[in-house]
Amino acid sequence: MDAISVIRAKRDRAELTDAQIDWVIDAYTRGEVADEQMSALAMAILLNGMNLREISRWTEAMIRSGVRMDFSSLPLPTTDKHSTGGVGDKITLPLAPLVAACGAAVPQLSGRGLGHTGGTLDKLESIPGWQALLSNDEMMHVLREAGAVICAAGDGLAPADKKLYALRDVTGTVEAIPLIASSIMSKKIAEGTGALVLDVKVGSGAFMKNLADAQELARTMVGLGKAAGVNTVALLTDMSTPLGLTAGNALEVRESVEVLAGGGPADVVELTLALAREMLAAAGVSGKDPETALKDGSAMDHWRRMIAAQGGDPDATLPVAREQHVVTAPATGLLTGLDAYAVGVAAWRLGAGRARKEDPVQAGAGVEIHAKPGDKVTAGQPLLTLHTDTPDRFAYALEALDVDGAVTVAPEGKDFRPTPIVLDRIA
Ligand code: URA
Repeated sequence: MDAISVIRAKRDRAELTDAQIDWVIDAYTRGEVADEQMSALAMAILLNGMNLREISRWTEAMIRSGVRMDFSSLPLPTTDKHSTGGVGDKITLPLAPLVAACGAAVPQLSGRGLGHTGGTLDKLESIPGWQALLSNDEMMHVLREAGAVICAAGDGLAPADKKLYALRDVTGTVEAIPLIASSIMSKKIAEGTGALVLDVKVGSGAFMKNLADAQELARTMVGLGKAAGVNTVALLTDMSTPLGLTAGNALEVRESVEVLAGGGPADVVELTLALAREMLAAAGVSGKDPETALKDGSAMDHWRRMIAAQGGDPDATLPVAREQHVVTAPATGLLTGLDAYAVGVAAWRLGAGRARKEDPVQAGAGVEIHAKPGDKVTAGQPLLTLHTDTPDRFAYALEALDVDGAVTVAPEGKDFRPTPIVLDRIA
């Protein structure tokens, strides 16, 4: 077997055989297939696609490149959620302790932000003392203590995906449905969860810009999950505008705590409850209703235990950026658009995200949102507050909001229908 014949086959639109797939993933993980060869193959896959058999074999080969975790010694069924990534998507933070409070165990392996979408680990690291890196024993300890754990995937889990994802990120090959589906599902299947709910984002702030592509991605991932014995369901949810009223690390932790305290923005609460109900149903748990667990303080109690078990201080004051800049409404009327991508890029440029994997992030940086689509606004009223420790970033962030036309104000009385949060469900 050699890399060139595998690349040529996909370049010429042939189906890859099981043996070719197994070999190329294994040889790439060992370093025998070079990065430039895997880049060419990834581009051929992006352009010519893979059928379900190929995607499924590719996913299995990536799982086999590393270890599989096992939570079968836990007394509760396990259930997990994975989002394909969005702007202001802090849902994992209130969701994991909420589902734990309702009677399931939530082992949540999360990632860091890259590009305009935020990462759950970066958000939680704004809590003083909180640790993302846990050994398997430590992970089990937090699960037993709090019913939920959110931590980084260890190096042993799907190492082929770690290498390939970093390569795709710098070769314009992230947006290939077979590669996204196999990347996400290899990690989730290797993680060993019994049930999985996928939050497939659709809109300007997501990888999938339209519903048809998102449906294809969701169907592919649900099929891969079920074939591997994981009870998998997908919700397709709107990412044309940011979720909630914050995008940025500490800002999003603050908003998540508001949700756990029984308040918070309506869209964040609605999506958290919808995903919680799906996670519990997929795990076959019919204990406490999630809405009750938000109101009676039990979700907050699980959050506090989870944060403390990972070294964090749930009562600590969260970092605040040193400088603020207010963006005002350009006209009086109805706010009909607040573009998720533009706000995500602005938050990223303010220091909330990173350009390269090794870059640090600013805990306090980001964007606070004062009006959402459907709200009436008056010319000159505050619409957004930009936060950063490094004020020379304001101009660059403002450019993102301008160039991408972040804000649309229409004359009052214009017919406006808000996009629903949940657009479709695939099971
Ligand atoms: N998230 C992943 O883990 N992999 C992808 O390819 C895209 C999003």
